[in-house]
This record gives sequence, C-alpha cells and structure tokens, in this order.
Amino acid sequence: MGYRKRNGENGLKNYSLPGFNIDLTPLFHFAPNLQNWDPQSLFEKAHAQLKSKFENGSIGFFDWPATLTSDELKKIEQISQELKSQYEGVLICGIGGSHLGAAAVIEALRSEEDEKQFPIFWLNNVDRWAIDRAKSFVSKKKVATLLISKSGNTTETLSGFFHLSSLLDPKGIVIITDPESGELRRWVNSHGYTHLPVPPNIGGRFSVLTSVGLLPLALGGVNIHEMIEGAKEFRSYIAAQPLQENPAYGYALTSFWWDTQEKHSIQYLMPYLSELKLLTDWYVQLWAESLGKKNIHGKSVGPTFVGALGTRDQHSLLQLFKEGPKDKVIGFIDCKPRTQGLTVGSPQLSSPQFEYLFQHTFEEINSKALSATEQSLNAERVPTYRVLFEDLTARTLGSFLLFQELACAIAGEFYEVNAFNQPGVEEAKQLLRKSL
Ligand code: PA5
Repeated sequence: MGYRKRNGENGLKNYSLPGFNIDLTPLFHFAPNLQNWDPQSLFEKAHAQLKSKFENGSIGFFDWPATLTSDELKKIEQISQELKSQYEGVLICGIGGSHLGAAAVIEALRSEEDEKQFPIFWLNNVDRWAIDRAKSFVSKKKVATLLISKSGNTTETLSGFFHLSSLLDPKGIVIITDPESGELRRWVNSHGYTHLPVPPNIGGRFSVLTSVGLLPLALGGVNIHEMIEGAKEFRSYIAAQPLQENPAYGYALTSFWWDTQEKHSIQYLMPYLSELKLLTDWYVQLWAESLGKKNIHGKSVGPTFVGALGTRDQHSLLQLFKEGPKDKVIGFIDCKPRTQGLTVGSPQLSSPQFEYLFQHTFEEINSKALSATEQSLNAERVPTYRVLFEDLTARTLGSFLLFQELACAIAGEFYEVNAFNQPGVEEAKQLLRKSL
C-alpha cells in the first residue's frame, strides 16, 4: 500500500507538532512515485536500529531532555548567575557543535537590551581578525570565559583560549568537556577550574541541549527550563506517533527520496526571519556532517545542505532556483505574527504611485513575499516545504531542534551511514595537530 493510499490524498503531509507546523505537501505532490511507494519496511528497519542505539545507551541525544534532572539544570543556572553577577560579559571559545547550536538560539531570541547588559563574544575561528577582535573584547571588560570542547583537543579552540589566557580571570573560567577522556579533561582536573561534563554518548552537533548549549544560553538570557520543556514535549509527542504518520520519518524520507530518487541533491533551508539565519548554519552542520560520508557499502552519499535567507536571497538565488538545474529542494521557515504589525505608512513627500504599499505591514509584505516565491517555484515544479513556528521562543525552538536531530538520525539509517561519527573532520584535525 502506497504512502498516498495509507494517508489519504491530502492527509499527513501537513503536520502539527508542539510549537510548529511542517507542510511537506509539494514534496509529495511533485513526486508521484513517492506517493505510490510504501516506506513501511524502510521505516521499520530504521526504527529498530535507532531504538536499539537509544536503548543500549550508545546514542543519547533523544532521551537526554527527559533524563536531565532539575538539579543539573539548576547547577547550570547557578553558574550562569554567579558569572553574570561578577563579570561584565563572556568570551566563549568553541567551534562546530561546541558553538553553533547555542549561538543560533541566542541570535534568535536575544534582545538588544540583553546584548548590551551582558555581551557575548564567540571565538570560533583562528584567523587574525577573529583573534584581534577577541583580544579587544577581553581587554576592555572584566569577562568570564567558557572553553567548550567535547574532545578537548580541537586546535582552533585551544589555541585561541591559550593566546588570551593571560588576559582572563582564572576564577571566571568554566570548562565544558568530556567527563573522563581527553587532554583538556586531565588539564582541568589538575588545575581545579569550574567544569561541566558533556555526556559521552552525545556528539558535538547533537549537543545543544546539554551543558554545551545550556550554559551559553543561560548566559545569553534564554530560559533553559522552557527550552528543555519544549524538547520534552516534542519527545513525548513523537514517541506516540505511528511510524507512517510520524513527521520526523516523513521529513527524513522526503529529504532522502528527493536526493536519491529524484536527483535533487541540493537542499536549502531558507527562513524569512533574519534572526534565524544562524539556525541555518546549525542545520547545515547537523545534516552535512551526519550524512555526508561513505555508507556501509563504501558508497559516498549525502545531499549538500545550504542555508539562505528570505526575502534577501530572493534577489540573488531565486533565479537559479526557478530556472537553473532542477536539483534543489527549498525549505522555507516562517512564524505566525508575534507583535502588532508595523505599517509602512505614508511618507511626507507626495508619492501617489507607491500608495499601494503604505497601508501594508512589514509582516504582511514578508509573508506575501514567501508565498509569492513558493508559488513561482511550484509553478516550475521546484519542490518546496514550509515550517511555520507558532511563536519564536525557547520552548518552540527546543522542540524544533530535537525534531531536526531526530529526523537527521533517521535519515542516517535510510542512507546506511553512521550519522554520529565524522571521520573526515577528525582526519583534518589530526593532520593539523601533526603538522604543528
Ligand atoms: O559535531 C562534531 O562532532 C564536530 O563538529 C565538533 O563539534 C567540532 O569539531 C568541535 O569539536 P570539539 O567540541 O571536540 O572541540
């Protein structure tokens, strides 16, 4: 029985999850073979494999929000409060999974006021510009420091931190690393710095809901209790969905299908909200580093994931999306109106030819621009999907992050890759260390 027969012509392509909605309709509409295909056995196999990884404890990200105790959360908040009361800002050294998740959520939720009151500088690179800017930041203020590295041996993170260390207050340094292994762990233990563990069974790009993300988020003013609640709500919801109706499986399937069967191997995520631009960097890392590798048969697999921003990139990429090679899937993100709309308003100068604009709100213009883009792309049979947030909050983002992580892990099973390792990244890290 095909997907369409099981789920009805219009059913189960438009899913309502805790905090957001995801409408995959065009991805099914433009792929008749997908509608007629039955993914049951693919789903069951992936489910059995993931279930055993979750149950034997080798992969921990999915159950983590439910097992995190309120004492552990309180400890993170307490460290954050102490640092905020004693320092004027924070330098955060970390890269990849030890940077992107928290930075993306902070960018999405942080007010200008929060940034003014307790500025954050992310040191996530080793080029001279980045190092000079970090030095200038720590020289002007009394700052706390977070050093985040799960492996404890990432050259960029360590070299930036050591370079600046003479300017840092040792009492304000917190180190987040593996609880047992790695050079950094041994170094922390011998110097007695404040430290927090990264669960050994949660890899960098899946770690935003652990201390790796939570301490920076608490320092950034994000309500981490709400965020974990959002992730827990998602987890309970998704665990109760039958496989065929499960949005995480549906989302993973469409990505996999369009890549492998329809040859659409470039997959964009394009929010129409500037504050979500960095979230696309997190998404790209999560999916690219998890899927782009050799599968169990030795074949190189994985789509290319890309982030873009609407409406801005309508004025650069849209032409290519519409009339260029038909090898792309475009995912949009929008949010329901959150504030009273801001109207364009009439200018002082007489401008009758632009009057059609003046009574509209920016929210209206933005969301109509998204719909116009979608319509124009769909007219050319370019496959799109749409995520609609109820609101942008710690809770809704907590739910969305865990959704993305789970869907990515499911896609890893479809591709028959180990979604949780990154041999390519590790090799370059080792070569760099050797060459130094
Ligand atoms: O997802 C991953 O494992 C990587 O991207 C790491 O997060 C990144 O390389 C940084 O590693 P570490 O936290 O060990 O410094």
